[in-house]
Amino acid sequence: MPTASLLDVSLTISVIGTGYLGVVHAACMAELGHTVIAVDSDPAKIESLSRGVAPMFEPGLDELLGKVLPSGRLRFTTDYAQVVGADVHFICVGTPQRRGENAADTSYVFAAAQSLAPHLSQEALVVGKSTVPVGTAARLRDRLQAGAPEGVTARLAWNPEFLREGFAIQDTVAPNRFVYGVDGPSAEADVALLDEVYAGPLASGTPRLVCDFPTAELVKVAANAFLATKISFINAMAEVCEAAGADVVQLADALGHDDRIGRKFLNAGLGFGGGCLPKDIRAFMARACELGADEALEFLREIDAINVRRRSRMVDLAREQCGGTLLGKRVAVLGAAFKPDSDDIRDSPALDVAQAARTEGAVVTVYDPKAMEAARRVHPDLGYADSVEEACIDADVVLHLTEWKQFRQIDPAALATIVENPTVIDGRNTLDPALWRSAGWVYRALGRPTV
Ligand code: UDX
Repeated sequence: MPTASLLDVSLTISVIGTGYLGVVHAACMAELGHTVIAVDSDPAKIESLSRGVAPMFEPGLDELLGKVLPSGRLRFTTDYAQVVGADVHFICVGTPQRRGENAADTSYVFAAAQSLAPHLSQEALVVGKSTVPVGTAARLRDRLQAGAPEGVTARLAWNPEFLREGFAIQDTVAPNRFVYGVDGPSAEADVALLDEVYAGPLASGTPRLVCDFPTAELVKVAANAFLATKISFINAMAEVCEAAGADVVQLADALGHDDRIGRKFLNAGLGFGGGCLPKDIRAFMARACELGADEALEFLREIDAINVRRRSRMVDLAREQCGGTLLGKRVAVLGAAFKPDSDDIRDSPALDVAQAARTEGAVVTVYDPKAMEAARRVHPDLGYADSVEEACIDADVVLHLTEWKQFRQIDPAALATIVENPTVIDGRNTLDPALWRSAGWVYRALGRPTV
């Protein structure tokens, strides 16, 4: 637990990268009382962030930027030289999946280190937050050292983030744990400095674990592998439920009461997508293979396969409900974001299904409360509507693919008057089957009985 005086500490912090992680981290660090300079090479992004406009939708983020920008504690720049003098430099750049491979592309992390190194001082600590293959931190420290000014010993700690989109601010200022990976002669001082950064949340009792570099790197990917496994487990049960005529939602409720299992992340449906879970489990398998531990993570291949199979099962169900072919059928797709409360469409199961239906000749119309612009950009050949009702006009089948609250509030009786054929397939198991059926709809779902 930090002492009371630590709570008054205000540090100068730099944040490298203003993607999802970087923007949220920078704004939250300013909110915690630190002075923050966030750097990105994209001038358009920096210009818009300086005006308080975030590049993505995240609940509470615009408000937070509106609060901390006028305080002067948060600035955005494209100029690396401005990070000089910061006590702590956070590396928050992305590690996407390499094109045509399972492995993660860590080039942005190394590029950030290269740009940062000449500006390091003896006192400054570099902190990696990006999700990286185990072993990256050790290599990164060598890279920082190679580029650091003469006489400066580069200091590096690994402090993975666990933020969920939609809850990113809460997960940053009040996470369920901090993990510090430290190494070398400055380890104790590095822990003390990180404790100053997080003095506020630590004082509220957030647990903090100190470990070595590889353990810290592994915590993040192991957590995501576990979450993906939990989701694919229940989706595998959904497949069995379909074969046996059982109900996966009731099964999950009953399993969840066992607190060794827990109900969270047991929502069966279209499976996981987004910028983290799919690519992180693939990169984890690739790295284990490099380490000669491929057998240990062989099961993740099956987790991935179960997940991908949900998407094709949804297309199969849609085809089946349309009389065996999607050719020329009107398909209304509710949802484009990979999950609700986000406009992120990276590896979105909803858009994957929409695109597959389109490829089979369906006339697809998509509606999403926040992700329309992003979806249009990446899938210009799909149709788009400005409302649920407009998307459903004359639809032969309605697919519920992202569980926005707005979709749970649809009046099925009113919607039945708009469609050609009142058939809904609930890909997220969050609509009320009784309500929809009583309004005259054929309600189908993944892993639930037909009637
Ligand atoms: C995830 C991790 O939760 C987070 O800790 C990490 O830092 C980044 O990756 P995120 O990608 O924002 O966060 O979303 P998450 O809430 O984990 O959901 C991932 C996907 O799983 C979504 O597509 C969601 O729809 C799906 N999901 C989640 C299910 O299909 N069923 C569930 O029960 C839960």
